[in-house]
Amino acid sequence: MLNVVIFGAPGSGKGTQSELIIKEYALDHISTGDVLRGEIKGETELGKIAKEYIEKGQLVPDELIINMLAKVLDSKKDSKGVIFDGFPRTIPQAKALKVMLNERGTDVSVMIDLQVEEDELIQRLLKRGEISGRSDDNLETIKSRLDVYHNQTAPLAAYYVEEGKHKAVKGMGTIEDIFGRIKVAIDGAK
Ligand code: AP5
Repeated sequence: MLNVVIFGAPGSGKGTQSELIIKEYALDHISTGDVLRGEIKGETELGKIAKEYIEKGQLVPDELIINMLAKVLDSKKDSKGVIFDGFPRTIPQAKALKVMLNERGTDVSVMIDLQVEEDELIQRLLKRGEISGRSDDNLETIKSRLDVYHNQTAPLAAYYVEEGKHKAVKGMGTIEDIFGRIKVAIDGAK
């Protein structure tokens, strides 16, 4: 199986590039942000809890996210591979993912770390907020999401360097050019 973790700050292009990766490599896509927004829309118990965290730009607690991810993964049993978008975001999540994949006889193949300058991240998210109305795309929440990213999520890069899975990819420029760089990184890991 080809299991790709797509990693990067809010607005770094994880969702955008996931769409292209799925088409090229016929992978399943798991975006924890999308799953959570679905739970919020469905007004489930998890959705009610998640909404409070998402609107403040904070991470939903690990235990809830890990249980949610395990269920989604169970629904992808016949998959050729999965792209994990927005998960893991903490060291406990990364360790849990390793256990879940190992239990299924597989592992993370590569972690793509999209690198984008902070000013550009903010501009992209403000622009998306204007168009889509996503409730966490306002300046105050964006700043909180970026702080959370630097403090809690960025340290995961070192975890994947240790695992020998980390590939840094420049995430600035055209979507097509970035995808070209991602393909080189994925093909090198296959
Ligand atoms: P999530 O939905 O994962 O949001 P995020 O990480 O903040 O990422 P975004 O979706 O904002 O950005 P992206 O990197 O996917 O960029 P995109 O391609 O959309 O999570 C939301 C919240 O859910 C979290 O804050 C947290 O509360 C919770 N959560 C989720 N997962 C969790 C977990 N594992 N643990 C705990 N809590 C969790 O691009 C952004 C914009 O830029 C788009 O408009 C796009 O068109 C544009 N764009 C993309 N590429 C380019 C380019 N090359 N040039 C110009 N514009 C571009």
